[in-house]
Amino acid sequence: MRISVIGTGYLGATHAACLAACGHEVIGVDSNPERVALLSRGEAPFHEPGLESLLYEGVTSGRLTFGTNCAQAATADVHFLCVGTPQRPGSHAADLSALHSAVAALLPYLERPSLVVGKSTVPVGTAAVLGQRLRRDAPAGDRVGIAWNPEFLREGHAVEDSLRPDRLVFGVESDESDQVLREVYAPQIGEGVSVVRTDLATAELAKVSANVMLAARISLVNMLAEVCEASDADVADLTGILGLDERIGSKFLNPGVGFGGGCLPKDTRAFVARAEELGVGGPAAVLREVDAINMRQRARTIDKAVGLLGGRVHGRKVAVLGAAFKADSDDVRDSPALDVAATLEARGAEVHVYDPKATGNAVKARPGLRAASSVEDACRDADVVLVLTDWDDFRGLEPVALADVVRHPRVVDGRLVLDPDKWRAAGWDFHALGRGG
Ligand code: UDX
Repeated sequence: MRISVIGTGYLGATHAACLAACGHEVIGVDSNPERVALLSRGEAPFHEPGLESLLYEGVTSGRLTFGTNCAQAATADVHFLCVGTPQRPGSHAADLSALHSAVAALLPYLERPSLVVGKSTVPVGTAAVLGQRLRRDAPAGDRVGIAWNPEFLREGHAVEDSLRPDRLVFGVESDESDQVLREVYAPQIGEGVSVVRTDLATAELAKVSANVMLAARISLVNMLAEVCEASDADVADLTGILGLDERIGSKFLNPGVGFGGGCLPKDTRAFVARAEELGVGGPAAVLREVDAINMRQRARTIDKAVGLLGGRVHGRKVAVLGAAFKADSDDVRDSPALDVAATLEARGAEVHVYDPKATGNAVKARPGLRAASSVEDACRDADVVLVLTDWDDFRGLEPVALADVVRHPRVVDGRLVLDPDKWRAAGWDFHALGRGG
């Protein structure tokens, strides 16, 4: 099939590359010419395992092209909307301006029958409004359909989540639209991936609901961590016990500095904002607490570091290991690690940051931070070390050797990746969120 993908961020670039890998002819459209130039050379604009080779294969095969103009999408049978829907400045609601601009740019080229499919995360009700607009303003009128097909991909696993998703959700208004999406995803369906066909509103809600469930779970476990700390219990053992209960399960039970990134924080807030508009803000208020508990983890981490520095931050050297919002990513959007590092820097500390992939993005976003080239480089003469992203590289750190590098062997494990006994035995003053001591 001939498919256009409008918006080539984390979602769109991955989706376009994976559709081309499935044999479709794909044009990716983005208003950013530098990004289009990179993608056209088969280069990934961000770190995502497996993406660059797929892009390269797609581009060299001729099945995958990129451009800056929606005119290039005119001959496509299916148009996927993959633009960002960030938090609106000064509000908790989602900013849909990029989505509306993308639709406005595409509209004049919708001259033949086609299906416009939203993948962006949107407040429930958005698809119905877009559908009316398409029928009213597209040259092909009601021969242009609307569908919603939310994407559940995780950064760091985006390619595998796209090629082998655990479910496909088709929010459609007709059998024809359902059939078109079945053709798009024929390889995945052939491999047995479940399809749930539903209405537009339920499909829109599916994405944001999954994210608020995950966010709530992380904040619940962080609440438990705080109670563990107050009662000298151990949250790592506790989550191990909880995870063995099949009804609870062991995934997404890691306490620490909390959730960040381009999705969970803003989706939680946007969900509440939309629920309020719909008159059901009362019950959704539980998610305000989820957000508050999450932000509190950052403050608690800072308090621990400041406590270890004896309350004097100015001029002290802090090593921050990890800047990405999670491992296997170079994304620092709303990253708890970056937030903690920047706050300590703003309070006068000299903060040296090392992340296996995100050091560059971190210092670009917060120029007051100092880029370190390795763990040892960051930790040299440090007064305190903070581990704030769950990279595997940090799990294997050697506390005996590192104790010789720092000025004072003090560490805060903000992700529960270090073995407390091993670090204490090596002479470290060891602290972790949720682990007493
Ligand atoms: C999320 C959803 O998982 C994905 O389905 C959706 O499509 C996009 O949003 P992503 O933002 O890539 O994906 O990250 P995710 O793996 O969900 O992690 C989000 C945050 O939660 C990270 O900061 C991570 O470190 C944190 N987290 C995750 C925890 O603090 N504890 C956990 O147990 C799991």
